[in-house]
Amino acid sequence: MDYRFKKQIFGFMDLLRFKKLVPNRRRHLEEGSPTHLPESYRVNDTAAVLHPGPQKAVLSEIIRQTADTKTYTFDLTSPMFFRAGQYVTVRAEIDGAIVQRPYAVSSSPLTALREKKLSVTVKKAGYFSGWLFENAKEGDEFTVGDPSGDFYHDGIRDSFHVVGIAGGSGITPFYSMAQAVKEGSEDFDLTLIYGARTLKDIAFADKLKALTGDKFRFVCVLSDEKQEGFEHGFITADIIKKYAASDDFTAMMCGPEAMYKFVGKELESLGITGKRVRKEANCIGNRDVKPVEYNLKVSIGGENFEIKARSDETILTAMERAGLKVPSKCRAGGCGYCHSKLVSGKYTISGIDKRRLADSKFSYIHPCCSYPDSDMELIVPNG
Ligand code: FES
Repeated sequence: MDYRFKKQIFGFMDLLRFKKLVPNRRRHLEEGSPTHLPESYRVNDTAAVLHPGPQKAVLSEIIRQTADTKTYTFDLTSPMFFRAGQYVTVRAEIDGAIVQRPYAVSSSPLTALREKKLSVTVKKAGYFSGWLFENAKEGDEFTVGDPSGDFYHDGIRDSFHVVGIAGGSGITPFYSMAQAVKEGSEDFDLTLIYGARTLKDIAFADKLKALTGDKFRFVCVLSDEKQEGFEHGFITADIIKKYAASDDFTAMMCGPEAMYKFVGKELESLGITGKRVRKEANCIGNRDVKPVEYNLKVSIGGENFEIKARSDETILTAMERAGLKVPSKCRAGGCGYCHSKLVSGKYTISGIDKRRLADSKFSYIHPCCSYPDSDMELIVPNG
């Protein structure tokens, strides 16, 4: 009974409060400042400047680094904020098709912010990189996407000491990190061990040497020739131990899969495993099967297309080859940017399935790392 009585009292008071609602609101409005709220806030303006989204960029310089590697520098429309180690997508129209690829940034974060310049270093391999190598010239216009990826030093996740292990063109993100450590836009200690076959295959050698100091050391390991001042052989546990600034380090690797396998075992023998080993994902290429042609029905933004897809190439490549504008960033199954609804059909995922549980449960696939095994039907977001 008590409870019901109290409830009635409170109900009555609630009614009073309700009656005062409008007069109270009027009073607050009258007491308010006559100045209008700003149409934009500095924090939002700054965020818009630092994260401009995909932007037009003019290719301003091409420098050959090695026989099969060139650095492309773009003049950006807007300044860009990125973490050293991240990648951007570079997009161009080739023979009527919109094609884009992710490339690790090789220039420093401050150069993109202050001078609106950004460089990527590209090895001549694959369709888009080969096209760039042969056709791109200064003055050409491209679209450069937002910086993406988590291959950068994170003070919460990673040790202060980092051993960077690079193979071939995998040197690119580390060159950006070494510049960032030097200029002070990143704060960690980096020992970079760079594996190459011969002296001629080393990109940025002199520039990396010039950046060495308290927080950056550079070691080169040549597998196919002996040179004074260089280690010879492969990147073994002994070499890592010899040069690492501390026993407590995070290993960050960027290079070919074969290097990940070999160096992964060497790191294991040093007790460096799990989250202390980080690898930059490589783009998924063709698979080694006899090509079979399937029909692929694709719906993009309500428009329907019917194209051919080969069993040896990813579904993303098939859509791009057919001239469809589809979303992609990492091309390695990790970012989820290309995730598309599977209506019907069979497919095989290259390597580890990196989809979120909900995606696999509700039949979403990542076309960038999936190969068709039958006729298929997909709903793809706008590119
Ligand atoms: S493009 Fe990143 S998951 Fe497909």
